[in-house]
Formats: sequence, structure tokens, C-alpha cells
Amino acid sequence: MKVFATRRIPEAGLDLLKKEGITVEVWSGPEDAAPFKHEVIAVARDCDVLLSSLTESVDREVLEAGGERLLGVANYAVGFDNIDIEAATELGIPVSNTPGVLTDTTADLTWALLTAIARNIVQADRYTREGRYRIWEPNLLLGFDISPGGSGQKKTLGIVGFGRIGQAVARRAKGFDMRILAHDPYNSGAIEEAEGVEYAEFEELLQASDFITLHTPLTKDTRHLISWKELTLMKPTAFLINTSRGPVVDERALVRALSEGVIAGAALDVYEDEPKLQPGLTDLENVIITPHIGSASRDTRDRMATMAAENAIAMLKGEKAPNVVNPQVYESGAYKRRTARLKRA
Ligand code: GLV
Ligand code: GLV
Repeated sequence: MKVFATRRIPEAGLDLLKKEGITVEVWSGPEDAAPFKHEVIAVARDCDVLLSSLTESVDREVLEAGGERLLGVANYAVGFDNIDIEAATELGIPVSNTPGVLTDTTADLTWALLTAIARNIVQADRYTREGRYRIWEPNLLLGFDISPGGSGQKKTLGIVGFGRIGQAVARRAKGFDMRILAHDPYNSGAIEEAEGVEYAEFEELLQASDFITLHTPLTKDTRHLISWKELTLMKPTAFLINTSRGPVVDERALVRALSEGVIAGAALDVYEDEPKLQPGLTDLENVIITPHIGSASRDTRDRMATMAAENAIAMLKGEKAPNVVNPQVYESGAYKRRTARLKRA
């Protein structure tokens, strides 16, 4: 049995696979590059489980290239918008992700970005580094409060997408004495149950929030959820934080909004066409841009790797993967045909 990893995930995951006697092959390209589509197709033909990451598109063509041999796709990420789930299900291929473990880690980064953009932390670091700090100044690098602060007025946080990560962000906001609004058509029950969180219609949330943070998956419905119209509904003093998926925001509209002062600033960890950046983005002072590091803590990346490995191992045994995202696949004839050889073995 062979697992092919499209990127070099932490050793913890690779070791776990090897301990099970599984042959593990890792794409041999440089760490700061991802395989081309034709390379992914070539390896899909030659492995039993594909351990993919969010930098590879696992579309119908890749899945079909896997032929009858491919027993599953274990994605090293919680998001799985890089995979054609409909095609996988139709072909009888289970797909798994790494949910839960990165919830707090991503919420922590969201909070770091929120505080950094409100208080000009990146600019302040640059200022100090450049040797410009000569004397304490009453009006130097003035930012915005997150807690009630000088105005005594609670600040409003708008959370768009109230899944695990959105909820973890809400928990952090309580320590800052914020008014918390949330919008999520799929998780309205969770909003109702969350203490100290108010449900808001989308437009209402846009208009009322001082900070808006995005935690939706990328789907047909959430692509360009924040576009020019939505930006113009926001307060001119509001900040946008995005640690979800880049295409949730129309980045061209965002650059225009930021340069025209339609909103106060943005902190982004994800981009519409990453790693490419929208022209003009890096010229702006009122943005913070980080390279998709939401889940990037040592412990969390290790655990994501072992989770992906555990899912791959289950797939190779014809067992239900602990984090399968298309469980209906197990009922299908296509899956049963695909795994018939495991029963014979
Ligand atoms: C990272 O973006 C993930 O989906 O895990
Ligand atoms: C991701 O884990 C989410 O559901 O928010």
C-alpha cells in the first residue's frame, strides 16, 4: 500500500504511516513549491491514498486518473474547497479533512491580526526598527480601541460564519468586553445558544460592526460575499479581518475601498489568487498581510499531520475515516466496488 503526500507534511504524520508498514512517498519538489497538475495526476495513478494539501486542486480529472486503485484523499487542512467532493462521492472515493485541532490556533491568529491592525503594531515595529523612535510622543501611532477604552463605548465585533472557528473567536471577544454579532444561515442554532452573542442579518452586521471577521468555508454562496457593495455598507472606521479563504472577499474591491477610505483597514491571511496579491495591496499602509498561517503552530501542524495519516490508514483498511467529509460515499456501490480488493486480501 502506498500513500503519496503532495507536500512534505510534518514528520509525525509520515512516521505514523511508516509505522503501519505503509510505503510513503513525498513529492520531491522544493518545500516552497507545489506539484503541477500533471504531476498530481501522475501520482494519483500510482498510489492508494493521496495525501493532498490546499495548494493542489484535486478535481475530477485527478480523481479519475486514480482509477480503481485510489481508496481515498486525505486533505491536510480543514478547508476542502480544493477538492471536487461531488465527483469524489460519485466515484466512490472518501475524502477527509483535519477539523477541530486548528480551531483555537486559527482563532488566535485572527485575534492577533485584529489587535495588530487596530493598534498599528506592524507599523510601530517598522518605525522602531528604522531607528525613528527618538522620544515618546503624545500623538504617535494612534490606533483604535478594541475594549471600550477611552470612549467607554463597547466596540462591536461582527462574526460572519459561526462554525467552530467563528465560535472560538466569539469566546476571545468576551474578554475584551465587546458587543458580539454573528451571522450564519447554516449555524443560526449555535448563535442562539452562544451566550452573549446576538444574531444579526448580514447587512445589519456590516453596518453595525467596528471589526468584521470572516469564518465561512469557501462555497458558491460565499465567493465574493464581501464585495464593493458590502464594503460601502461598513463604517468608515471599521476593520475587516480574513483568515478563512481569499475568494470570500472581492480583493480588487477591497483594495479600492482601502485606498479611498471606505473602511479603515484590513488584516488578511488569505488571498483571492494566492500566493499572488492584488496589485496595490502592498502599497497600502492600512493593511496587514500574512502568508496563510492560520493553523501554523508547531503543535497544531503536527496534530494535523497525524490526523491526515490516521484518516489515510482507515481508508487503506476500508474502514470509515475518522474525519470523512462525504460519509454518504460509504453507502455507494462505487465505494464497495473500489474496496472489494481489500476484502479479498
Ligand atoms: C487552512 O487554511 C486549512 O483549511 O486548514
Ligand atoms: C472550521 O473548523 C469551522 O467550522 O469553522
